[in-house]
Amino acid sequence: MRKPIIAGNWKMNNTVTETLTLLKEITSLDLDKEVEKVVVVPFTSAYSAVDLLKDSDIKVGCQNMYYEESGAYTGEISPLMLNDLGIEYVIIGHSERREIFGEDDNLINNKVISALKHNINPILCCGETLEERENNKQEEKVRNQLINDLKDVSAEDITKVVIAYEPIWAIGTGKTASSNDAEEMCKFIRNLLKELYNEELAEKVRIQYGGSVKPNNVSEIMEKENIDGALVGGASLKADNYAALVNFR
Ligand code: G3P
Repeated sequence: MRKPIIAGNWKMNNTVTETLTLLKEITSLDLDKEVEKVVVVPFTSAYSAVDLLKDSDIKVGCQNMYYEESGAYTGEISPLMLNDLGIEYVIIGHSERREIFGEDDNLINNKVISALKHNINPILCCGETLEERENNKQEEKVRNQLINDLKDVSAEDITKVVIAYEPIWAIGTGKTASSNDAEEMCKFIRNLLKELYNEELAEKVRIQYGGSVKPNNVSEIMEKENIDGALVGGASLKADNYAALVNFR
């Protein structure tokens, strides 16, 4: 049985003060203890978030990292810095990193390998554009992304990776993929993992859906056999919404 995981990707939102206010609200609410909870905060809030959550079961993630441990990489954050902060998860290859900031599969693969090397669990994002979906190219796109992004990820490490299927056309648009479409792609991803690794390992990997997940659609999405969690943007920025997402059962 895979443990459900609900991660809130705050994106470029919340000062330290706003982070502390939101986290205090979230920790004041009853949250399902059987669901893995992750808040993925801006780098500037990471230390404060880890400190505030140190006695809770809510884990802290960051939204990106570079793959080298140190050096002349202006503006970047190293895995050692995330280790130093006590960060447990890192989103890698979010469509906004790929589409806006030009991250390619080679860079993303280097980041996945480095995160695993430094004991940080990757949340590896994949997903198609609207044009690719309209041309029924979603499986081809996601297959190519994952084959390249997971290159040299060992059988021992693959179960530490959370795969987040996020159709780009559903991100921030309010156009949630139907739960059947989401399940279809998450099942495709699981079958691809069986092909790349084996059935036993593929069954252990957790696959999230992301793209306009809200309290009013999370339960239907989470009922699907191959969906083990959600990667949530906008709806995770309010405490009561995040609690409703976690308490999806
Ligand atoms: O990483 C999650 C994000 O891309 C989804 O955003 O606002 O559609 O839930 P949103």
